[in-house]
This record gives sequence, structure tokens and C-alpha cells, in this order.
Amino acid sequence: MPDTSSRSLRIFPSRRIRGTVTVPGDKSITHRALLLATLAEGESRLSGVLTGEDCLATIRACQALGAEIEFLNATTVRVKGRDRKLLAPAEPIDCGNSGTLMRLIAGILAGQPFSSCLIGDASLSRRPMARILVPLRQMGARIDAKGPGELPPLEIHGSQLHGIDYRLPLPSAQVKSCLLLAGLFASGVTRLQEPIPTRDHTERLLRHFGLWPIFDNGQLVVHGGVRLHGHDLFIPGDFSSAAFWIVAAAAFPGSELFVQGVGLNPSRTGLLKILLRMGATVKETIESCETEPYGTLEIRGERLRGTRIRGEEIAQVIDELPILAVAGALAQGETIIRDASELRVKESDRLAALAYNLRAFGVPVEELPDGLIIEGGHPLRAASVQSFGDHRIAMAFAILALAADGVSVIEDTACIATSYPGFEKDFESLTQSEIPGWGERAFRQIGHRWARWAKESLEDPAEARFPVVAIDGTAASGKTTVAQELARRLDFAYCSTGVLYRAMTWKLLQMGVDISNRFRVARAVGKIPMDCWIENHQLKIRVGDEDPSPYLRDPEVNANVSLVASIPAVRRYLLPLQRKLARQAPLVMEGRDIGTVVFPKTPYKFFLDADPLVRQERRRQQGETDLLLERDQKDRERKLAPLKPAHDAVILDTTRTTVNELVETILRHLKRKGMNLQ
Ligand code: DC
Repeated sequence: MPDTSSRSLRIFPSRRIRGTVTVPGDKSITHRALLLATLAEGESRLSGVLTGEDCLATIRACQALGAEIEFLNATTVRVKGRDRKLLAPAEPIDCGNSGTLMRLIAGILAGQPFSSCLIGDASLSRRPMARILVPLRQMGARIDAKGPGELPPLEIHGSQLHGIDYRLPLPSAQVKSCLLLAGLFASGVTRLQEPIPTRDHTERLLRHFGLWPIFDNGQLVVHGGVRLHGHDLFIPGDFSSAAFWIVAAAAFPGSELFVQGVGLNPSRTGLLKILLRMGATVKETIESCETEPYGTLEIRGERLRGTRIRGEEIAQVIDELPILAVAGALAQGETIIRDASELRVKESDRLAALAYNLRAFGVPVEELPDGLIIEGGHPLRAASVQSFGDHRIAMAFAILALAADGVSVIEDTACIATSYPGFEKDFESLTQSEIPGWGERAFRQIGHRWARWAKESLEDPAEARFPVVAIDGTAASGKTTVAQELARRLDFAYCSTGVLYRAMTWKLLQMGVDISNRFRVARAVGKIPMDCWIENHQLKIRVGDEDPSPYLRDPEVNANVSLVASIPAVRRYLLPLQRKLARQAPLVMEGRDIGTVVFPKTPYKFFLDADPLVRQERRRQQGETDLLLERDQKDRERKLAPLKPAHDAVILDTTRTTVNELVETILRHLKRKGMNLQ
């Protein structure tokens, strides 16, 4: 049994696609080749067969009708055809999720001298069948749709069909194919007229198996009773599967992708025309034109611009509209999709699914009865979205998630196997996650700028892994209260670095080291076994096996800490300890030199200051004996890491603002700087 459990995909951001890919065989061609080889006399060896769930259902269906099908290797089958004489299936034929199978095989079964039943999964059981039932009944078919409103299951009572002249009311390659297949078993001639041309695989394959459907006056003509002859066939890669990589590579500047052995039937490659219009760079090389053209595509990433997709074009890109909607979200400006109400009755209501999921990623989108208006080019936030059981929705959003600002999750992705087994493997080889091994929760908090910074930082293992908000400033400027509240709001760890300097001061005093002698201090510091880490969102310190926290605000410590903090050996000692913390948790880190020295690359830097008298009063109210103005003076004057705002810090005057106002201001700045706040 295939794995039908609802798996999920976790997608790390990566804005570049690089490499070469060969996608699995074409789904449409595989279905049709299997059915026609079953009807033909003799053997057909089909290579490049798609072994996704949908096509496996077709193999089982063909076997149920008496075809002998044997796998010669993973993607090659030998089909011994029935020369039109099918067996009555013993049981209902399960079409699984495949609308193509149900609609095409219904055309074959309608004209057989036996009865049969077609069933499908929950999604297929909601897909409209009236579009085939109406013309088939005109041909004399007796079919009962057992579901409400002509929905599956279909009970087919075999009967003698007769040819009809039929103009398809809507463009549908499945309806066209169904009627062509029914026409093979009908008396007389079946003539079909399409309002808009749709994919022509059935016509090409009929030709491949020896029957030449004639084009006569814009009509497609088949004669009943003709024989098909077995023939080997190579099935090229599915353009609709390649479409996910094509769009990703086209939309991410700096990408370079080669797609090899991919089907390039012009009735399928409408996507390329649209991408070119959007500003993409695509080179198409056709290597073979036998039955189905195929070749290589070369795509280079550019900044795309929005476009309009409507009218006749829709039929050419019907399966690609989900990924085209994603292209629209990644492009600059507006993309409008109209005349696509057919999407509402695909494997899911694709218009609703697209609108819902695009919004989850932060894309402004308007859902219309027959399309979407997508405002592209907005920064995307990481999201957790549903596939709605639809393989193309799942894959389209896996691509969009590459551009998000953190780890996204696509739920319920087992459906991808219906058309693209191996998608995950190709995904891994073509995308390179920007930040390997990233903690998900923390990553959700970061924005584009930080992602860039983090990448640089990783090259220096001493540097941060998680986002750090630096809160520097003068003593009693409100840093601690603001930083603590901010950490609470962000769910980051709060971390005051002053306590490290205080712990060091306490220990030096305890050891009786002459603090005014920086050489003695330097020597003593080397012997102090100090460590710190994050526990329960808090900074913990140990000096040997002692916990210094009860002594950190002793008057003696207050009086000496600035001096100790000015000694280079102390700062050198504490620097890696502070940086290490950012490898443990996302931090709001309070201090004097966090933005200038400890984490100079974080884009989230704030410097708090207030009127000195107000600050003094604050300390007095806290009941502390702290000569803070003198400390500030010393902190400012020291040579190493003096107290000063980083050039890119946001400076906030806290004299007359409340803590809440300050925190809100900081949150606004963080958002503007690209941090993803939920
Ligand atoms: O934030 P605090 O008052 O606990 O800091 C105590 C002293 O430590 C302060 O006078 C300056 C020094 N310090 C520093 O130099 N660099 C830091 N990152 C943090 C504190």
C-alpha cells in the first residue's frame, strides 16, 4: 500500500535554485499510453512511465480489463494489449484521485458489451462528471452517476454507441479524449469541435498506435471499429511537474536550472510564454519531435513582473495556474488570473485554496468567482498551510515557502505522490537552505536582513545563530525594564550582560585582587572559571561552583564594576561568553556595547538614554546607592568598547515615555526592520 498518511513538508528559506533536474514521466501521456496500449493488438513497451498514485490506478484498471502489464524496470512497462476485446472487470474500478482516469476510461467502458462501475476517493467523488455523461448519453451510453448531481460513482451499463457531432461546451482535454475513445467503439463517425484547443496527447498517441484521427474543417474525426497496433513509446518528463522548478528558478534572481528530457508539447508549455512576458529568461531546446516533442530547458532567475492571464491562454496552463499564482506573488506588481472558474472543480477548489494559502504567507490577494488578483512583491512571512489534499497546491506552496522569512510547513503532502514521486528529493538537491540546522521557532522571528546576517555569521562560528535584539544605553535609562518586557513580548530570552561584569567584579573583590592594577586583574581573570548559559529564558551564571547572583548589587560591586569593565582582559574574557548565548536562544541582550562590539551585525539595535536627573531619581527610588553618572562617565571614557550608540542604532529618549510606549516603539522598529512578529 502506498503511504497515504498525511505527511508534511518543512521548508527552509532558500532564494536560489541551482542544478539539473529530470522530472518523472508525463502524467497525461502515461494515462493515455496505458489505456491505448491496452486497446491495441500486440505488445507495447512504455518507458519513462510515471509511477505516481494516479497512474498506478490506471495500471490496475487496465489489468482489471485484461491487459497483461509487467514492470521491466522502475519506469518501463510492457503492456500486452487486448486488441479491443476487453474483459469485464470483476469489481468496481477504483480511479483513486484521478479525474483523467475516470473520465477517459468511462469513454471506453460506455461502448463495451458488459457493465462496470467506476469509483474514486473523496476528492474525485466531488468532481463533475456531467461534462462527459451528457455527450456519452447522446452517443447511446447508459450510465448512472450514483452521487448527488451526477457525481461519481459511475455505473456503466455497456451498450452499442453511435457516433455524434459534438461541440465541446468548455475546453477540456479529458472530455475530448473520453469522446475520442468512445468513438473507437461507436458505429459510424464521431466528430468533435473544441471551442479552444486543449492538450493534444490523445490525438498524438492515437496516431502513434496506428490510427490517424482526421482534422476536417476544424473538427476532429474518428471512425468507429478501427484497430490500434502496439508500439513502443518513450514518455518524456511531465512539464507540469517541471513547472514548479521552472517558476522557482525564473523568479529567484541568481538561479540557474536545467530541466532535461522534459515534454515540450506546445499545447502544454503556455507557462513559458507567460513567464517570458513576466521578464523570465528561458531557453528551450527541442531534441526530439517523435510523437511527443521533448528536450531541455534552461532557466535563469530574474526579477519578474506581474501579468494578466485570461481567455484562451487559461486552457494552455490549466495545471500550472497554482504555480503561476505563486509566480505572481513573487513578481513585482499585480498579477490577474481570470476565466479560470474550472479551477474550482479540480483536485480541490484551487482558487479558494490559492487565495487562502497566499494570504497565510502575507500576500494580498482578492478572490474572484473566476480568478485571482495577486499583489506581488511583498515580503513573505513563514506560514503553516494545508495542501487541501491537492498535489499541485502542496508543491506550489513548497516553492513559495522558499521566499518566506522562516521555516514554513505544508501539511498533508502525501498527495504529492499522485503526480511527482521524488519531489522531496529533487527539492533538496535544487534548493540550498540558507541557514542549515536552524531552530524553527527562532527562525520564525527573523526577517530578510537577519537571514542575511545570520548567513554571514555562520561563517564565523563564534557569532550568533539566533536573532539578538541589542538594548544598549546609559545606567538607569530604563534598559532593564524595557528589555525584560520586550523579551516577554517576543518570547526571547532576556539577558543582562552587566551581571557578567558584576559577577567578575564580585569575584575579583572576593579574591582580594587589586582592581586598580590591570595587570594583576588580567592574571586573576585567567584563573576565574566563569560560565553562563540560558535556562528558562533567563541568564544563569556560575563562578566555579558558586552562584554569584545574591551579591551582584552590593555597594562594593556598584562602586568597582565600571573600573573592572574598562580592563581589556575582562572584556576579552566575557566576549565569547556573551556570543555563545546567542547560539542557545533568541535574545534580548542588554548592555553597553552589544550593538557596537558583541553583535555588531544584528540589525536590531536600540540605545536608550534619559535626562541624568531623571535617571538618578529612578535609582534612588530603587533604593540603590549607585553613583551612576560617574559610572556612565567612566563607561564613556574607557578606550575599549566605550558606551556609545552604534551608528545604526535607534536612539530612544526614555525621559518621558512609559515602558509600554517604549516597547511598542521598539516592536514597530523591529517589524520595519524585517522581523516577523506574530
Ligand atoms: O547594566 P549594569 O548597570 O548592570 O552594568 C554594570 C556595569 O557593567 C556598567 O557600569 C558598565 C558595565 N557593562 C559594560 O561595560 N558592558 C556591558 N555590555 C554591560 C555592562
